[in-house]
Amino acid sequence: MQDQENEILAPAEALVYPPDYIVNEAYINREIYAKMYRDSIENPEGFWHGIAEKELHWFEKWKDTFEWNYPDYKWFVGGKINITYNCLDRHIIAGHFHKCAYIYTNEASTEQRITYGELFDKVCRFSNGLLSLGINPGDRVGIYMPLCIEQIVAILGCARIGAVHSVIYAGFSAKALKLRLDDAKARVLVASTYTKRRGKMVDLKAIADEATEGLECMEHIIIHQREEPMLLDELEIDFDQFIATQSPVCEAIPFDSEHPLFILYTSGTTGKPKGVVHATAGYNLFTHYTTKIVFDLKTDDIFWCTADTGWITGHSYIVYGPLSNGATTLIYEGAPDFPDPASWWAVIEKYRVTKFYTAPTAVRLFMKYGDEWPAKYDLSSLKIIGSVGEPINPEAWHWYDKNIGRNNCAVVDTWWQTETGGHMIVTLPSLPQKPGRAGLPFLGIEAIVVNRQGTPVPPHTVGMLIIKKPWPSAFRTCFGEPERFQKYWNEIEGVYFAGDLATMDEDGYIMILGRSDDVLNVSGHRIGTAEVESALVSHPSVAEAAVIGKPHDIKGQSIKAFVILKQGIEKTEDLKKHINHQVKHELGAIGVPDEIEFVDKLPKTRSGKIMRRVLKAKEMGTEAGDTSTLED
Ligand code: PRX
Repeated sequence: MQDQENEILAPAEALVYPPDYIVNEAYINREIYAKMYRDSIENPEGFWHGIAEKELHWFEKWKDTFEWNYPDYKWFVGGKINITYNCLDRHIIAGHFHKCAYIYTNEASTEQRITYGELFDKVCRFSNGLLSLGINPGDRVGIYMPLCIEQIVAILGCARIGAVHSVIYAGFSAKALKLRLDDAKARVLVASTYTKRRGKMVDLKAIADEATEGLECMEHIIIHQREEPMLLDELEIDFDQFIATQSPVCEAIPFDSEHPLFILYTSGTTGKPKGVVHATAGYNLFTHYTTKIVFDLKTDDIFWCTADTGWITGHSYIVYGPLSNGATTLIYEGAPDFPDPASWWAVIEKYRVTKFYTAPTAVRLFMKYGDEWPAKYDLSSLKIIGSVGEPINPEAWHWYDKNIGRNNCAVVDTWWQTETGGHMIVTLPSLPQKPGRAGLPFLGIEAIVVNRQGTPVPPHTVGMLIIKKPWPSAFRTCFGEPERFQKYWNEIEGVYFAGDLATMDEDGYIMILGRSDDVLNVSGHRIGTAEVESALVSHPSVAEAAVIGKPHDIKGQSIKAFVILKQGIEKTEDLKKHINHQVKHELGAIGVPDEIEFVDKLPKTRSGKIMRRVLKAKEMGTEAGDTSTLED
């Protein structure tokens, strides 16, 4: 990727205009956006101050909107807030006790619904349960559960009493789970017994057991038993009993605006994941406002974000953003193409979903299955269809627009990251779209493309994507590793360094080209090459390993591993399977290489760093660029 820097790319294709009804309905149309954007950049503090007053409930008003003590920053300093009050109490007070908060469904078309009133009841009970265990504000609680209502109860139950949740994606292995729980020094783990994917049971309880074995920080394990109850051991608490025995009254505690809300681990360039920390008020405001504006959310919408709550997209656009807006959200547990490639389209038809948000990898998967699958279903309820997680190529964009949107929706691409908390670059639904370009900076966000020295590059020239100033939901630190946080603001002094390569066109539309560092994006999942490499070398036969991402027509990128075996070990296909198994055990299925090649040597710099770029060039049959530092 680094090789692309300074390259000049051809202009993208022509504008696509959203349907008139979308433009007429939108909170923000083109003219309003242009003026609002200008104002928001001239005076971001004034802009966010106004939005915060209008959109959220505060127990106490803040004194200073923004404080920047480079590189640290604070928003709404001195304010008191409780995010669950904004997500629950205020909707109930406004008379929406019986409004549906979530519709849950899955591969077997099982259905559960929960109203705002019922959710409030369960959350308060869960919070009281945590209090009864002696959990204090700031204590960490790990959550290892699939996408289900109980998971959302656990998340909100933590937030209500100021416990910091750390959700770990239920596809991670025991080792990966343990690493994260230990790093966060979690006192409690909430885990489900299992999830089902493609009809097959995934035993999460066994993974949780292995991960918590000998984990010193862990004091309590709450087990969410699905259907068949099992015998729990002494330390374990049954989720249903845990909440049934508690009072449904738990007042929302006012917390400082900057009180940490959650830690979410994400991949970086080293083997150790980073614990991205978000603060309450700024995150509440930004996810509330982007959900409202980007999806043009109205009271009768049925919103469906297909992400998993184990990732940031789920945190922001399944849990906090939609709830803060009082929306009805659909959640779906399972694989997108099971029992057949039309499962999702059947769900949209059945529940009359109006706003839909998914990843390009899913779109490309459905493209491959063929137009006939969505064609069988009535998708006329859809108004806005969104994309997130990786660049959406124009071909997939047009397929999505035509076959899912039926050319009667706005297609909204959204670029952002775990660290940014919410949408940074989007094409708002009322604005003309440019397929293949993520779009324009969101209100209050100054995103530009620069060279390594921080100077803006000319239109269509590849450079680094940066954000000029902190915004309300910018992450506050990396848990226990402030230096990793500081790096984002030091790489190019004074600005946020996103780590993505991009171009900007004459109209200010930004195209994201992918990462500039050693981070992979496989099916929208962020994976560090170093994480996979350390999982590979944990196999007793492996001496050294290097991993690259290769373009893949569905996943975006696939993982190729180059492996040097220890002396005397035979290179067999069977060994490749064993090595893959080891990676699955160390990291989880998402990190397993698609391809392993045994090699005798790896290209290295004279200082011993693996040159993945050289491996990639060789693999792709392209020029390797500057190889003057190559050792051999
Ligand atoms: O490379 C960008 C890509 O995903 C990275 C962030 O990954 P993560 O923190 O896991 O968050 C994913 C969901 C927000 C970015 O650095 N990315 C995300 N959205 C887009 C994207 N690349 C292109 N277009 C997008 N819309």
